[in-house]
Amino acid sequence: MRKKISFAGPWITQKEVDYVTDATLNGFYETYDLYAKKLEKTVADYLGVKYALATHCCTLALHLSATVLDLGKEDEVIVTDFSWVATAYAIAYTGAKCVFVDIDPDTWCIDPQAIEKAITPKTKAIMLVHTFGHPAQMDEIMAIAHKYGLYVIEDAAPAMGAEFKGQKVGTFGDIGCFSFHGAKLTVSGEGGIFVTNNEEMYEKAKLLASMGRTDSQAVFWSDMLGYQYTIANLTAALALAQVERIEELMGKKRQIFNWYYERLKNVSGIKIIKEKEGCKSNYCYPSILLEDSISASRDVVLQKLKELNIHCRPGFPQMSRFPVLEQRFPNPVAKKVWERGISLASAANLVEEDIDFVCKNLIELIK
Ligand SMILES: Cc1ncc(COP(=O)(O)O)c(C=O)c1O
Repeated sequence: MRKKISFAGPWITQKEVDYVTDATLNGFYETYDLYAKKLEKTVADYLGVKYALATHCCTLALHLSATVLDLGKEDEVIVTDFSWVATAYAIAYTGAKCVFVDIDPDTWCIDPQAIEKAITPKTKAIMLVHTFGHPAQMDEIMAIAHKYGLYVIEDAAPAMGAEFKGQKVGTFGDIGCFSFHGAKLTVSGEGGIFVTNNEEMYEKAKLLASMGRTDSQAVFWSDMLGYQYTIANLTAALALAQVERIEELMGKKRQIFNWYYERLKNVSGIKIIKEKEGCKSNYCYPSILLEDSISASRDVVLQKLKELNIHCRPGFPQMSRFPVLEQRFPNPVAKKVWERGISLASAANLVEEDIDFVCKNLIELIK
């Protein structure tokens, strides 16, 4: 069989091997958290924020965010209806209600107009996602947040390096969270990071992430119900090496997107999700929508591609339909992307010939 064309996968060099080896051999005793600290400083400097706290994964960074903002069962949070479910569950863990709203058909990120329509006296925060590495419309979202006095959490899990009008995403709202999961741009298997410019939020998150331990009355004393959410030093070593190479990694993703774009831009019935003017996407997952003019079933297309060892992904189901969550609005765009969206294979080890193979087969299958 032909080479596996993976949906996602990292680009590992000697640098990663060296850092992890060093953390394995030397990252204990007095240097037990050296790589975690270096990772936090490097990410904070790269993004231009004051504080960063590395976590076991992004889901936990999101949960810390919701907890730091004191969300609870009397509160509503406006959440995009198109994401991996971690976005919503991080809010739901606190007892707050997720109010799911629709997405912009051009970016698949939360639609600012839908946010404003969903605000009630109970609304306390907005949870947005920079979907697949595309920046959400941050100027409009922040204007709404200021107008109504709402907190903003940016779920930037896949979007490290993406920019909105020259500013890195994850740095506009009160808190931003990124993932180092193995399918992201910068990977460490599992891993995440919480960033903020607010000292109080950072200090509270740090305490929560380390079991509320203060040592205030005695060694091992804890002053609040905390969690064990910190990153492992070994994991941080891998994440650090990747973050130090972010421009190179993003360059590869952008190149893969361009290879797709050149081959698919004139294919009728395919809408390509492309960065808007003033935005820089990291193209973590290059994505397309099969428009109504294409009669082929999206799931059959994905299955046939899989038989050719080409691994692409369907759109996320609407989270508002999940049994433990609740639907207030129908959100037709999110529904359409769930049913007709495809995220294309974009593992870092793909070359132009692979993208050619994917596109030729895709075009054949939708004829
Ligand atoms: C939008 C979004 N939010 C949150 C997460 C959760 O990240 P992690 O797997 O690091 O917990 C992901 C991961 O896939 C994601 O895509």
